Amino acid sequence: MEKSLQIIEQDALADLEKAVSRDDVDLLVTRYLGRKGALTTFLRNISKLPVGDRPSAGKDANALKIKLEEAFGDAGRRLEDQDTGGGIDVTLPGRPVIRGSLHPVTKISREIVAIFSRLGFDVVEGPEIETDYYNFEALNIPKYHPARDMQDTFYVSENIVLRTHTSPTQPRVMEKTAPPVRILAPGKVYRCDSDLTHTPMFHQAEGLMVDKNVSFGDLKGIITTFIHQLFDPDISVRFRPSFFPFTEPSAEVDIQCVMCRGKGCRICSRTGWLEVLGSGMVHPAVFENVGYDTEIYSGFAFGMGIERLAMLKYGIDDLRKFFENDMRFLRQF
Ligand code: DAH
Repeated sequence: MEKSLQIIEQDALADLEKAVSRDDVDLLVTRYLGRKGALTTFLRNISKLPVGDRPSAGKDANALKIKLEEAFGDAGRRLEDQDTGGGIDVTLPGRPVIRGSLHPVTKISREIVAIFSRLGFDVVEGPEIETDYYNFEALNIPKYHPARDMQDTFYVSENIVLRTHTSPTQPRVMEKTAPPVRILAPGKVYRCDSDLTHTPMFHQAEGLMVDKNVSFGDLKGIITTFIHQLFDPDISVRFRPSFFPFTEPSAEVDIQCVMCRGKGCRICSRTGWLEVLGSGMVHPAVFENVGYDTEIYSGFAFGMGIERLAMLKYGIDDLRKFFENDMRFLRQF
């Protein structure tokens, strides 16, 4: 090997010390990093080293390459400013402004809102700091009901919580509005949960439709249309009996696995199906709490996790990636 990395580094930095103009620096770039430059030659010859030495030599050489690129870049810019007396050269081309992009959660939220807006749903928002009454009681979840366990949350005081779901927007809206009601409520929710598939804060979107003669058929129609628009029109949707205190009957909605198309894979635990949202016909107790006449009105509600939909849509395998602010991840959207 002609020259060791250390010597290359010493020489390069010593040469850079002596550079007095941008042109000098450009010559150094060629001398060290150019096609026949010292560092390039070193990298090319790594294959001639003993096998055991190659990985560390490669790593060191690449680190030096980055270091020299930065040092030469900085010096070049500094000397150029000096060359032009530090003044502004109005003939230089502008520096491109790097455009940001929307966070994937924001993107999917907007898509969901757009789809439901086209279906005639108004968008509303509720508070993230919620009372025990709206978060639980009004939704037919009394104190000490086992359904509270699944939604363990952060209590601010005995009767104030960080909301565990977007469902409290249902009674809040109904209390203030006479039917018909058709709303979609996206927003942040909180639970004492933290692992691969759970973060203490996440996003949901809640839907509610109340009118005369609203049936389970309407629920199926709206949800199926939504899934077909968000994913694709050929995807199968299935409604599975379930339980929620604020709906009766209740249904969990599954879609055909978007990764394997129902064949069975790791993502769908080999079942071919993915659970995407909870839904059901609004429980009469909820209507009574807000003063709606259960003889005249009926309705359905549904709630979905936005990160989960984003993961399925974009093929993301770790929920935590959404909140790490890693630019390499975020730039892809
Ligand atoms: N609030 C439920 C949850 O967070 C989701 C849900 C289920 C919302 C059924 C609904 C519904 O509106 O009808 O787990």
